[in-house]
Amino acid sequence: MDYQAILETIYQQVTAIKDKGTPAAYIPELAHIDVNNFGLYLQNNTGDVYGVGEYDTKFSIQSISKALALALASSFDAVDILKRVDVEPSGHPFNQLALIEIENGIPRNPFINSGAIVIADILVSQLENPKADFLNYVRDITGDTSIAYDLNVAASEKATGHKNFAAAHLLKSFGNLHNDVDTVLDFYFHQCALHMSCVQIAKAFHLFANRGKCQVNKLRLTEQKVKRINAIMLTCGFYDEAGEFAFEVGLPGKSGVGGGIVALLPDNFVISVWAPGLNKRGNSKLGMLALEQFTTKTELSIF
Ligand code: DON
Repeated sequence: MDYQAILETIYQQVTAIKDKGTPAAYIPELAHIDVNNFGLYLQNNTGDVYGVGEYDTKFSIQSISKALALALASSFDAVDILKRVDVEPSGHPFNQLALIEIENGIPRNPFINSGAIVIADILVSQLENPKADFLNYVRDITGDTSIAYDLNVAASEKATGHKNFAAAHLLKSFGNLHNDVDTVLDFYFHQCALHMSCVQIAKAFHLFANRGKCQVNKLRLTEQKVKRINAIMLTCGFYDEAGEFAFEVGLPGKSGVGGGIVALLPDNFVISVWAPGLNKRGNSKLGMLALEQFTTKTELSIF
């Protein structure tokens, strides 16, 4: 299959669309990103790589980081994550608060914000220097020491993230946040502010497509844990649009409000896309379309 030609065709098709969606305005630092940016990148498990557009430009990965945080939290065998976070799709927006109250402080899944904040709390408890150690984990699994946090994005979200503060306080009121709210959210805002390109994201997610062995060929996660995280990506990776993503694209994946999406076919490939204009559900509008086109043209999906 001529993957480079397929990516180029998708690039032409998708970038010609006039309504490119809108950037995430609720994080001021992300509000003014040019929606004309578009990058698409494919890394096969054989090591072959293909890319079009701005695939090497770094952007704010935001909620894409939640899958990496979950992978690191899952590697601590002493921690029973499932006692504190469920694995059911929520069918609600990623920042919804009502379910936390209704379900007594147990978030529906680790990818909605409340669930990701509980995972952040677990990492804060487990890691000696949480921000540095998490960054080192991402550098380690990719073999890329240039990966860093965008401190302006982290500060911008800290100054305006009132719903996340509300979520964290609610979790604390139910006893499902062990560290203090400010410490956990400081970690969480940095985690979300990882600044990475499509190339680096594909390298990071290679371990989910490669049975737990990461880019530098070390076993970082057991096959059983990889299976479970991929299942959560499929059912919960796109919040109240998870059904639509499974229906249109048919791959496990994770989105972020920076406009990135990463998806993978186990034992085959990782594909990453960046298009900062979002749809109403907070997922990249052109990114979703590009991935739908990719699995339609190649007939490569888990279904
Ligand atoms: O907590 C937040 O709202 C952001 N740091 C991350 C949200 C996000 O990326 C949702 N995904 N599409």
